[in-house]
Amino acid sequence: MCKCNCSSAGSDLKLLDGVLESYGGDKGNLITVLQKAQEIYGYIPTDVVYYIAEKMGSTPAKVMGVATFYTQFRLKPIGKYLIMLCKGTACHVNGSGEIEKAICKHLNIEDGGTTDDGLFSLKNVACLGCCSLSPVMMINGVAYGSLTPDKAVGILEDLKKEAAE
Ligand code: FES
Repeated sequence: MCKCNCSSAGSDLKLLDGVLESYGGDKGNLITVLQKAQEIYGYIPTDVVYYIAEKMGSTPAKVMGVATFYTQFRLKPIGKYLIMLCKGTACHVNGSGEIEKAICKHLNIEDGGTTDDGLFSLKNVACLGCCSLSPVMMINGVAYGSLTPDKAVGILEDLKKEAAE
């Protein structure tokens, strides 16, 4: 049972021990420790917040305060597919707003959210660097360009089928 009294079986906290040995002695390294924790777990689980606080002589509230302050930290696991939807100027002009509406409606999530089945997360991002393909989204490193709302939804459906196979 996890220390925060949630029902989760808890994270494998030992995975973080090397990081804490290297950086945990100095409270000024908290951001580095959180970055390393996110690399290990994919996000910052609550029991990891408690563990870091205990090992660094801090409080869970302080650690959580830093983790929530910086947008680089995720406090929930991301989906199997991370949709990075470009909201840069070229994509905006070419209809990324309509693409976002279609994705949000289809998946029933908002920017920053993850579907209940854990399959998709959506994150709006700045220019992805392939403006000639605008509007563009990138999913797990693959760019999908010249999107229309229907095309974007079709891509998500294909990935859903792929995940089910
Ligand atoms: S503005 Fe979207 S890729 Fe550049």
